[in-house]
Amino acid sequence: MQKKIRKAVFPVAGMGTRFLPATKANPKEMLPIVDKPLIQYAAEEAVAAGIDVLIFVTGRNKRAIPDHFDKAYELESELQERGKLKMLDIVRDILPPHVSCVYIRQAEALGLGHAVLCARPVVGYEPFAVILADDLVDGGSAGGALTQMVEVYEKHHASVLGVEDVPPNETHKYGIVTPETLEDDLWRVQAIVEKPAPEDAPSNMAVVGRYVLSPRIFELLENTRPGAGGEIQLTDAIAALLEKESVLAYRFQGKRYDCGSKLGYLEATVEYALKHPELSEDFRQYLQTLAHTLD
Ligand code: UTP
Repeated sequence: MQKKIRKAVFPVAGMGTRFLPATKANPKEMLPIVDKPLIQYAAEEAVAAGIDVLIFVTGRNKRAIPDHFDKAYELESELQERGKLKMLDIVRDILPPHVSCVYIRQAEALGLGHAVLCARPVVGYEPFAVILADDLVDGGSAGGALTQMVEVYEKHHASVLGVEDVPPNETHKYGIVTPETLEDDLWRVQAIVEKPAPEDAPSNMAVVGRYVLSPRIFELLENTRPGAGGEIQLTDAIAALLEKESVLAYRFQGKRYDCGSKLGYLEATVEYALKHPELSEDFRQYLQTLAHTLD
């Protein structure tokens, strides 16, 4: 595995049941954090990591995401006519011109592993990234999580899983790895298991929504039967991959928000609003006043 990472897969075909009814007609990846949808933060993170082909695996509410990344002629001419040039720039600069988008349909939500397999014809036989946009990562001064992971990949030429320590009572929500220390924040994965109960979890090191994967994962996904929750799990194919190749776990710098859950989504909204140039001061004051009314 020596090739540069040029392509990122964004599985956006999940049901998003935890956000119903907001996700009845819209994918959850279109939920905004302040003024930008989750999927745009994820696309920006990929572009910052040097990726120039964005592959979206879409599901039943498939239109909103292509619409978001497409040129919006009517909106642009209206903003131009009204002299709203700052807004016009925002709408025009959603993605840099060298980046292309490809959309693939996952006809049935059969699981994350199946969604990644749907991207195979576009990825071909090269290493690629997977980003779950509902895991929002603020990398701060360390740069994006994917930028950090691509650096690890370029040094070690192996698949890299983004990991984070989670409380023992949350292991049942994640893929959990058995780690073997290599360097600070970097481990070789010895085993991986999807959503173990706390008493069965081999560690509290959880895989969160960032992956750099060897293309060999596709042949393993093809042979992966439904696992936890009756879904075709990416974790199970990674378990098969590490029998054949080395797979690394990297604890990236930065803060992750689980925006697939209501609480994580609200935390991200509050913290991003506190950093937003237009809002930070007024919002801070509002929160301070509100905090006095709470006990
Ligand atoms: P989740 O496990 O968060 O499931 O998927 P979900 O359906 O999106 O949300 P809930 O749990 O019902 O609220 C993890 C990621 O995998 C994608 C989702 O879009 C999300 O980015 N996914 C999941 C697919 O693209 N296809 C699937 O079949 C399943």
